[in-house]
Amino acid sequence: MEKLDRNLPNRQVIPFLFMLLWDQVLTVPARYSVLEETESGSFVAHLAKDLGLRSGDLAARSARVVSDYDKQQLILDPDTGDLLLREKLDREELCVPVEPCVLHFQVFLEKPVQFLQGELLIQDINDHSPEFPDKEMLLKIPENSQPGTLLPLNLAQDLDVGSNGLQLYTVSPTSHFHVVTRNNSEGKKYPELVQDRALDREEQAEMSLTLTALDGGSPPRSGTAMVRILILDINDNAPEFVNTPYEVQVLESSPPDSPVLTVLAKDADAGNFGRVSYGLFQASDEILQTFSINEVTGEIRLKKGLDFEKIKSYHVKIEATDGGGLSGKGAVVIEVLDVNDNAPELSISSLTNSVPENAPETVVAIFRIRDRDSGDNGKIICSIPDTLPFLLKPSNKNFYTLVTEGPLDRESRAEYNITITVTDLGTPRLTTQHTITVQVSDVNDNAPAFTQTSYTLFVQENNSPALHIGTISATDSDSGSNAHITYSLLPTHDPQLALSSLISINADNGQLFALRALDYETLQNFEFRVGATDQGSPALSSQALVRVLVLDANDNAPFVLYPLQNASAPCTELLPRAAEPGYLVTKVVAVDRDSGQNAWLSFQLLKATEPGLFTVWAHNGEVRTSRLLSERDAPKHRLLLVVKDNGDPPRSATVTLQVLVVDGFSQPYLPLPEVVRDPERSNENLLTLYLVIALASVSSLFLLSVLLFVGVRLCRRARAASLSGCSVPEGHFPGHLVDFSGEGTLSQSYQYEVCLRGDSGTGEFNFFKPMVPNLLLQDPGRDVKESPHSRDSFVFS
Ligand SMILES: *[C@@H]1O[C@H](CO)[C@@H](O)[C@H](O)[C@H]1NC(C)=O
Ligand SMILES: *[C@@H]1O[C@H](CO)[C@@H](O)[C@H](O)[C@H]1NC(C)=O
Ligand SMILES: *[C@@H]1O[C@H](CO)[C@@H](O)[C@H](O)[C@H]1NC(C)=O
Repeated sequence: MEKLDRNLPNRQVIPFLFMLLWDQVLTVPARYSVLEETESGSFVAHLAKDLGLRSGDLAARSARVVSDYDKQQLILDPDTGDLLLREKLDREELCVPVEPCVLHFQVFLEKPVQFLQGELLIQDINDHSPEFPDKEMLLKIPENSQPGTLLPLNLAQDLDVGSNGLQLYTVSPTSHFHVVTRNNSEGKKYPELVQDRALDREEQAEMSLTLTALDGGSPPRSGTAMVRILILDINDNAPEFVNTPYEVQVLESSPPDSPVLTVLAKDADAGNFGRVSYGLFQASDEILQTFSINEVTGEIRLKKGLDFEKIKSYHVKIEATDGGGLSGKGAVVIEVLDVNDNAPELSISSLTNSVPENAPETVVAIFRIRDRDSGDNGKIICSIPDTLPFLLKPSNKNFYTLVTEGPLDRESRAEYNITITVTDLGTPRLTTQHTITVQVSDVNDNAPAFTQTSYTLFVQENNSPALHIGTISATDSDSGSNAHITYSLLPTHDPQLALSSLISINADNGQLFALRALDYETLQNFEFRVGATDQGSPALSSQALVRVLVLDANDNAPFVLYPLQNASAPCTELLPRAAEPGYLVTKVVAVDRDSGQNAWLSFQLLKATEPGLFTVWAHNGEVRTSRLLSERDAPKHRLLLVVKDNGDPPRSATVTLQVLVVDGFSQPYLPLPEVVRDPERSNENLLTLYLVIALASVSSLFLLSVLLFVGVRLCRRARAASLSGCSVPEGHFPGHLVDFSGEGTLSQSYQYEVCLRGDSGTGEFNFFKPMVPNLLLQDPGRDVKESPHSRDSFVFS
């Protein structure tokens, strides 16, 4: 409310002023000042006094104050003549931005009309704080910004002026920046940040600073704003692969599109500068065709299948590029692992299909094996079955020859299927097989072989001419003409045997024929050799012995040796009348030229004058008395005996015997009995002759028995000594038969034969050993054991 003298017009100028005023217009305005925000009604100036008027004058002259503005800020107190503030004045509202702030007003007076210019200076007070238009400021600074860099900031506003206006900016914290206060071209103060230290986004990407603006009031007022500083990344880091060089192994069997590995490159930068894209670098066509890399993920995949046999490893260069264009390089070593995907191969270079059977070691085939895999997968083993007589011989570098182990034998095996097996050692094992067929060609290395070393053929005597009596047969294990056999009769060494008139042979099939009828009684057996020859070159041949046994037929009737039957008178035996029952009257002796059963004779009494008196022993022909003779018995008896053989049909002969009963003919010195004789024959000489004949016949009978006994003994000894053994089979011999072959019976296997040579008439016996073993023993020049076959003999009738 006090008047500011400084701004008021000088008191000495006031009279001059009034003079002008009174000259209608006051040219020099009256000047006053007031602080802003002064209460309304406050005193501004003693206007009346300053005009030199009394206070009542103003009211009388209707004085009034007129402002230049619509609003009237000043009023005139008419009583006191003081100029008062009508309302509170706000400098900032009235004047900003004009400085100084001056209100112009006029004072009007009537009677006389006068008007007065006045100025009111409104003085500032510190009623405003500095204020930032933005409470938060964002500042982006690249991290490579150097210390000393200046960063002007938006300024703060302070409506006050002068020393109340904005004076200073400060900032906190001051680790990286401080602030300086600058004047701009308009004279306003603005803050400017100064970078003190280097920045590293990777260390601290963002900072917040508090910017404070201070004015010069007392006390000073301040305003703050937040400065957010984003430290901008710059691409100061190139991408770097984490594990380079990468090493990876891939099976060659991996299908296309299978992943190989994922590479990773790191870039410490952020955003685009840290965003890495992957690619292949300096890649050859082969690598480009084989691998692909995912730009974003870094995954490397196969584009096509691999083949270890072609390429075993790949060196792939890779590149990682960030958004700023910086790049890092890496390498991937991709090793292809072998997989056993190739079976062994076998190729035959040369092959012989046929090998002669007796050739020494012969090359059959030459072949080559290989396996495209490597390592164990490519190691191969070549084999053929152990059982075959062939050998595999490795020659140089995967070549093998297949050779025969030695001479082969076509007869045991004519064809070989040789399976060559080639196996590799991979997992799983792969195998290739190849079969070679080798034929063994024939060589004439086998002579014909007879089915038996000797043949025994039996032919019934009296056969029809050209009778097929048997077949010999030989086999040849060769083939073709080497096995084609021709049979022949070999010349005999026996000059007596006219073989060609007896036997013929079919050269093709070995059938033997008897050319004419055979007679057992003249030729019981004969032997000859046959040959079998093949047609090989040279031809091979072999021989066999054929023995033909002629079988007896009952074609001869028994022949009575004693008593003689062709005499004109029948033979007469003497019988003492005192003979005891069982007295041997005589013995009928008969032979049969046949043999065996056909020669077994039996005797039978067919007819007698006194039937009850004599008995004939069926098996030895002895005629004995069966009772004592009585006086009533006739002195002369006639007996009719029949001698029958055992043939089929049997043949027989009859014997007529006369017995004369004599008296007084007793033992031991038996005188010749008184014979009741026929009147024609009763002379002494005749009696003597009969006696002699009877004695001779008895002694010859004895001799015969002794011979028989000795013969049987000899035969037994011979049989015991023989290889095959000559056993006498047990069996039942028909009681009514006599075996003139000695003793024993017939069995199927062993047959004994006795032959009494009829032509000699001397009763000489001829013993045969058992036939079959006998033949074996007599096989000349060889030591042949009895074999089961040799008992198979042919019997033809
Ligand atoms: C800014 O202006 C003030 C007075 O207006 C003066 O005192 C000061 O020296 C100036 N500062 C600069 C940096 O020019
Ligand atoms: C060999 O093989 C052939 C054809 O497979 C077959 O006909 C023949 O019987 C075989 N030979 C042998 C001795 O296995
Ligand atoms: C009776 O036969 C035998 C032998 O056959 C003969 O040796 C003899 O001479 C014959 N006797 C008479 C009388 O015919």
